[in-house]
Amino acid sequence: MARGFRLIFATSLLLTLLGLCRGSTIGVCYGRNADDLPTPDKVAQLVQLHKIKYLRIYDSNIQVLKAFANTGVELMIGISNSDLLPFSQFQSNADTWLRNSILPYYPATRITHITVGAEVTESPNNASSMVVPAMKNVLTALRKAGLHKKIKVSSTHSLGILSRSFPPSAGAFNSSHAFFLKPMLEFLAENQSPFMVDIYPYYAYRDSPNNVSLDYALFESSSEVIDPNTGLLYTNMFDAQIDALYFALMALNFRTIKIMVTETGWPSKGSPKETAATPDNAQTYNTNLIRHVINDTGTPAKPGEDLDVYIFSLFNENRKSGLESERNWGLFYPDQTSVYNLDMTGKGAVTMTTETNVTSSNGTWCIASSTASEMDLQNALDWACGPGNVDCSAIQPSQPCFEPDNVVSHASFAFNSYYQQNGATDIACSFGGSGIKVNKNPSYDNCLYMTTGSNKTAASNATTALASTTTSSAANALFAWTLSCLLMALLSFL
Ligand SMILES: *[C@@H]1O[C@H](CO)[C@@H](O)[C@H](O)[C@H]1NC(C)=O
Ligand SMILES: *[C@@H]1O[C@H](CO)[C@@H](O)[C@H](O)[C@H]1NC(C)=O
Ligand SMILES: *[C@@H]1O[C@H](CO)[C@@H](O)[C@H](O)[C@H]1NC(C)=O
Ligand SMILES: *[C@@H]1O[C@H](CO)[C@@H](O)[C@H](O)[C@H]1NC(C)=O
Ligand SMILES: *[C@@H]1O[C@H](CO)[C@@H](O)[C@H](O)[C@H]1NC(C)=O
Ligand SMILES: *[C@@H]1O[C@H](CO)[C@@H](O)[C@H](O)[C@H]1NC(C)=O
Ligand SMILES: *[C@@H]1O[C@H](CO)[C@@H](O)[C@H](O)[C@H]1NC(C)=O
Ligand SMILES: *[C@@H]1O[C@H](CO)[C@@H](O)[C@H](O)[C@H]1NC(C)=O
Repeated sequence: MARGFRLIFATSLLLTLLGLCRGSTIGVCYGRNADDLPTPDKVAQLVQLHKIKYLRIYDSNIQVLKAFANTGVELMIGISNSDLLPFSQFQSNADTWLRNSILPYYPATRITHITVGAEVTESPNNASSMVVPAMKNVLTALRKAGLHKKIKVSSTHSLGILSRSFPPSAGAFNSSHAFFLKPMLEFLAENQSPFMVDIYPYYAYRDSPNNVSLDYALFESSSEVIDPNTGLLYTNMFDAQIDALYFALMALNFRTIKIMVTETGWPSKGSPKETAATPDNAQTYNTNLIRHVINDTGTPAKPGEDLDVYIFSLFNENRKSGLESERNWGLFYPDQTSVYNLDMTGKGAVTMTTETNVTSSNGTWCIASSTASEMDLQNALDWACGPGNVDCSAIQPSQPCFEPDNVVSHASFAFNSYYQQNGATDIACSFGGSGIKVNKNPSYDNCLYMTTGSNKTAASNATTALASTTTSSAANALFAWTLSCLLMALLSFL
């Protein structure tokens, strides 16, 4: 009875907190400024094949919305600067757009955000003065449809919206934007919408290579930059730029607004002068970015804070103007082959696809020690599936590695995944003494079934009795993780 309640409780908690507590996410921008891209249907397949779960598009193209129906991919859609005028002028324009262009495809296509205008401070034609009225009209249209809590309305910005970004603690918005920025920030705070920013350490490096080290821009720096006002240490420019924004928001007393990175990335090719635009650097930047974000590191000013990030871009886009690099931001060529390998999960080796497999980099595996207590194993399992960032989906109920449902088996699965992901070093198999390294492959059906008999069939038999008295260890891990997340969320409100 207690078990049932606990499971239901954990599940409902999880669902209610899905938006709040899903951890940091990595998405990709699907720009379509090209004449040689695959059809949206093919793109939807490509996106799913590479386990991309969050996608940003820049409009509300019907073919794209249709292609992503029932894929589970969450879409951020957009209203371009050139469309701001009608949206800002009349509520009825926003209502009509929502009714005709969005609602027919929702919720089969999971739309989570609408960006109203993009980098308006870089845009001519008075976009800045139209953006907030347009956002308000779009929100009102959503409210009439009962969707204002499900779909967030915001607008993206370039870092040029700051007049100062270094040191991060001195971050400040350019006061000449205050006329639209202040009402926008009030809107975001009121509606719990994120502040969206496009962040490009590549440009900072390209434009002042003497002042910015390439390693610092690529998350590879071995030295730290200290913020003299706060004493905070920065090892990469990405964090420094985000913190500059947090401090700029705090300076205006907007403490609850979260930051979302709606574009970042690195070009794989450039003009002769753009020497840093190489496939190697692009792979390094994006790989390090994903690992940095996925493990919920946060930034020095906001450690542990979730951050949602979109990588620019899915494809190279041949119709973009400007320097050669502009047309070479893609992860893929138009023929759908990879420009370089990238692991979107940030967990495995540097390959584009990951499957559940018990692999070993080194001929060694890490499993639960037979001398560890069940409680120690459960704690270590909770840690591995939570902060340790192991993908524990395979040991959830009805998933391939759930049986045998016991803590030794689940812990072995999680320990080994963590160990292999973290360089198969001794320390990565410690788990407070409850992990142990073995030289013999303990896998079976691509899972790890650890029991005293070390046999899947025998194990299933042996644990049927156990399962009725002890709760599923994997569900427990999920529960513990959710609970700690809830606590963090509560604390951050206080
Ligand atoms: C910009 O927009 C504001 C407010 O809508 C308006 O008062 C102003 O005349 C516009 N300026 C231009 C150059 O269109
Ligand atoms: C602030 O913005 C104005 C208008 O875009 C621009 O002319 C000025 O150079 C900016 N100031 C700084 C310090 O970036
Ligand atoms: C480098 O930094 C110095 C001092 O901060 C500044 O005067 C100079 O203009 C910068 N150079 C470039 C290329 O940005
Ligand atoms: C998370 O990333 C930080 C820095 O990128 C690293 O120091 C830390 O060890 C990582 N944590 C895990 C659990 O991978
Ligand atoms: C998974 O393991 C099996 C058996 O060792 C192997 O045949 C298969 O190629 C592996 N798959 C991957 C993606 O490594
Ligand atoms: C590989 O295995 C050896 C022997 O168990 C171990 O000492 C070493 O740390 C492991 N990891 C790597 C990356 O070599
Ligand atoms: C596992 O079980 C199968 C069938 O029940 C049996 O044939 C096999 O010998 C067992 N293996 C071990 C290692 O016990
Ligand atoms: C599993 O349990 C059943 C009933 O207790 C028994 O008949 C069967 O032989 C067991 N199978 C194995 C592989 O131990």
